[in-house]
Amino acid sequence: MTATLRSHHCGTLTTTALNQTVTLNGWVNRRRDHGGIIFIDLRDRSGLVQLVFDPLTCDEATMEHAHKLRSEYVISVTGKVAARDEAMVNPKLATGEIEIEVSALTILNSAKALPFQLDEADNVDEELRLTYRYLDLRREKMGTFLKLRHDVIFALRQALHEEAFYEVETPILSKSTPEGARDFLVPCRLQPGEFYALPQSPQVYKQLLMASGVEKYFQVARCFRDEDLRANRQPEFTQLDIEMSFTDEEQIFGLMERVLCKVFKNVFNTTIPTSFDRYTYKEVFDSYGNDKPDMRFDLKINTITPLFADSSLSFLKAVAEKGGSIGALCVKDHAFSRAELEKLVSMTIKDFGAKGLLYIRFNEDGTPNSPVAKFLPADFLAQAQAHIPGLTAKDTLLIVAGDYNDSWTSLGRLRLHLGAQLGLIDTTQTKLCWVTKFPLLEYDAEEGRYYAVHHPFTRPEEGWEDKDPKEMTARAYDLVMNGDELGGGSIRIHEGALQEKVFGLLGIEKEKARESFGFLLDALELGCPPMGGIALGLDRMIALMTGAPSIREVIAFPKTQKGICPLMQTPTAVDNEQLKEVFIASRPPKKLV
Ligand code: AMO
Repeated sequence: MTATLRSHHCGTLTTTALNQTVTLNGWVNRRRDHGGIIFIDLRDRSGLVQLVFDPLTCDEATMEHAHKLRSEYVISVTGKVAARDEAMVNPKLATGEIEIEVSALTILNSAKALPFQLDEADNVDEELRLTYRYLDLRREKMGTFLKLRHDVIFALRQALHEEAFYEVETPILSKSTPEGARDFLVPCRLQPGEFYALPQSPQVYKQLLMASGVEKYFQVARCFRDEDLRANRQPEFTQLDIEMSFTDEEQIFGLMERVLCKVFKNVFNTTIPTSFDRYTYKEVFDSYGNDKPDMRFDLKINTITPLFADSSLSFLKAVAEKGGSIGALCVKDHAFSRAELEKLVSMTIKDFGAKGLLYIRFNEDGTPNSPVAKFLPADFLAQAQAHIPGLTAKDTLLIVAGDYNDSWTSLGRLRLHLGAQLGLIDTTQTKLCWVTKFPLLEYDAEEGRYYAVHHPFTRPEEGWEDKDPKEMTARAYDLVMNGDELGGGSIRIHEGALQEKVFGLLGIEKEKARESFGFLLDALELGCPPMGGIALGLDRMIALMTGAPSIREVIAFPKTQKGICPLMQTPTAVDNEQLKEVFIASRPPKKLV
């Protein structure tokens, strides 16, 4: 059957087209039968329009056809644009003032009973939505996500083109890149027993492109990481990957600020500040207990260790004496019930990893009200005010004590929980900031060795050689938006000798370094310019910009938390013949034996 091609798109018709004869194509969104007259909401990518099949204007055959229509049938209709009766005008619909008096109908395709109704998909199990993703994506909300994703990527490409960047593609069949996850491996038939690794990011290639004289590179790049999945992680995801030669942090921050301002303006018509606030890693960890602070609400961590130096609370005194830290969140003007506070205690211990949570409220006369009140001085409020600016008797203190990193991490999690629970977060705001001066190394006690916090190609800050490895900082930075890490990057090592030294710090012996990264060391020794760059997680960025609850919503065909695509049923077993061709023998996993 040949389709009758459309003259207009459904969602664009208004009273300006009154009395015109139009042909429309689309899906039956909804069908209502009103005593012989049939109303259909016809949907295409642009929106909905109401069709009317009336026995007074339609011939018998068309009416008969119209009776057969069901949800998601694909049809073509021709008819006249008519004004709706005043009482029937639907102000919620862009096309709500008009309807189409249909004179001809072609059924282009039928649809079986649907596994779920499209307008109920929000309440359907996500796995079912993903199994029939093409149905799910027909929904207006999902179509909007796809369109915004396109618009954002288009605006990014345009902005970077205007900044004289070249988009260069780099291989997918690649070699292991150390971004901290496991690699996905691909066997190579032509090189028996050898494997490609899918790139965790194009990191090494973009450095090689700088060695190639490209100077300004970007790529909308697919990355693959075999890691445990969470709401904002996928095994394959997309980065906006950027690298520049002869550059420094100032230039990279300025570039990203200009580019993101343009994207917010062009796609969302939103104005964001032309430069983003900057904080060091130490500053944000001290105030927010993590390295990706949500700046849309205050509730900072206060250090109150000295307050307990002579306390009768022996466990807090001991923490202070042993060089531990005591931190407090000061919740303003909120009357917690005792039950609510007890719930916070158990949550902070069970879910946020603290050894305990102490709460202190105040009575009307300012004396402390807490399970440990009898161990606190009567003027505790006045003493605490010296450490917690603005503290009043109406506030509640939530205190965690112990190792600085552990306690602050727990308080950081508690802060985020309270922000959501007490409605402290101003969700209308967009807060972007830079976090700088990250530690260079992280010690893995189990393996007894250091790992690079960012990656091994990150440049240490001047003077690193005179410092203890734990104190070394990196010329690395993250871009944070509303409490989520949008991207990260660094100034790189561009000299072979320095790169070898840093490999040494990471416990990678000279020979091993040559074996794994000889190609890079060669490039660094053959006239490589200074360089730096950044990669933004595009899925995350688009989810944040559109308010989607998870990055899966803004990816056309995402995987589940278990790494499965329910639509294609991937991953799948392959037959032995196929395995033999790539010299692999397969054994059932242990649990099945
Ligand atoms: P990094 O590993 O920090 O840096 O990654 C950059 C950004 O990519 C996003 N991201 C992810 N998004 C979805 N699913 C995942 N599994 C996932 N992992 C990371 C995050 C993150 O901030 N080569 C360096 C960049 C550089 O140094 O230039 C890199 O990949 O938003």
